[in-house]
Amino acid sequence: MYTLNLKQMTKQEFLDEYWQKKPVVIRQGFKNFIDPIAADELAGLAMEEQIESRLVHKKDGQWQAAFGPFESYEHLGTKNWSLVVQALDNVSEEAAEIIEAFRFIPHWRLDDLMASFAMPGGSVGPHRDNYDTFICQGSGKRHWRVGDNGDHVEFAAHEALLHVEAFEAIIDVKLEAGDILYIPPGFPHEGISLDTSMSFSVGFRGNSAVSVLSAFADHLIDNDKGSQLLTDPNRQVVSHSGEVSNDDYTSIKSQVQNLLDDDESFKKFTGQFLTSAKHDLDILVPDEPFELTEVSNLLNSHAIKRLGGLRAFYFEDTIEQGLCYINGSELAFSAVIANGVKLLCDKVMLLPDDLSEWSRNAAFVELATELLNQGYWYLAEVE
Ligand code: SIN
Ligand code: CO
Repeated sequence: MYTLNLKQMTKQEFLDEYWQKKPVVIRQGFKNFIDPIAADELAGLAMEEQIESRLVHKKDGQWQAAFGPFESYEHLGTKNWSLVVQALDNVSEEAAEIIEAFRFIPHWRLDDLMASFAMPGGSVGPHRDNYDTFICQGSGKRHWRVGDNGDHVEFAAHEALLHVEAFEAIIDVKLEAGDILYIPPGFPHEGISLDTSMSFSVGFRGNSAVSVLSAFADHLIDNDKGSQLLTDPNRQVVSHSGEVSNDDYTSIKSQVQNLLDDDESFKKFTGQFLTSAKHDLDILVPDEPFELTEVSNLLNSHAIKRLGGLRAFYFEDTIEQGLCYINGSELAFSAVIANGVKLLCDKVMLLPDDLSEWSRNAAFVELATELLNQGYWYLAEVE
């Protein structure tokens, strides 16, 4: 278990002072930090097809980048390269535990856990991200510089590397195992490994309003709501045919606005959008589907765990009506099990004691059976 230690600061004070506002170093944010995964295991993962990974190195002063899967690392030598693996939480339960320390931020904001292994001198170069990131230093040391979020010129140092021009540092530190660097979106930063090192970045996604709007338009089209025409049945004769009248403009705008104001439709879209997986899930469907009759007993004797990276959320007001969102779909269930479903969405692991009220409830058992059979949740021995 990784316990976040903010020293004298409360979590709310961190949010008030730094979240989305300015970067900060949290020394020993994790005490006695141990890498959840070994470097060679990470390198092995980056050889797999379904894993999103990137190698960055400098050759003759030129930045080079390549996307995995990789066959070997031997050509890279022992200096000036780094390997980045996205969505490690989808494939490593141990690494995913780091995310649990950041549960004071709602999970719908989370993107993924990224791991980075670097040889001495290794770096991905100076850049900005559209993410709030907590860079948790693992083994080894890295030198980090972070600049202010003013205007920074970006350029392609390589076709797959968007860098920023040299910047003045407002933070200039060496991080050691257990130190955490929080960087809000837009602040330029660069980390250079001082020896062989690992870091684990918990990234919180920042969608642009335009990307949400564009995805909403796609959602309406996919749901056959895209062909509705703008209407004007009360048209009056005009003498200026080149003019768009104020009334016409207001009517167009309000008809578009109505699409967003339809809360039922926009909420359904938002739930599906926020729970859509950004990185491939490692779904394992059980060989033999579970039977309803056995699941009640299994919930009494086993822990139930959510598949790594699976997104499951509910809205504060519609959960009581029996609606939640899992992996990009809306799921309706009996409203009497709303509190049980909240537990499934709030916690990645539930023990028999957590479910004592629910493991004998027919509606809950039916839902749990469906989720187990989809491979979205799985059973684990109680430790
Ligand atoms: C890295 O750890 O190599 C890059 C992390 C980041 O800059 O976001
Ligand atoms: Co970054």
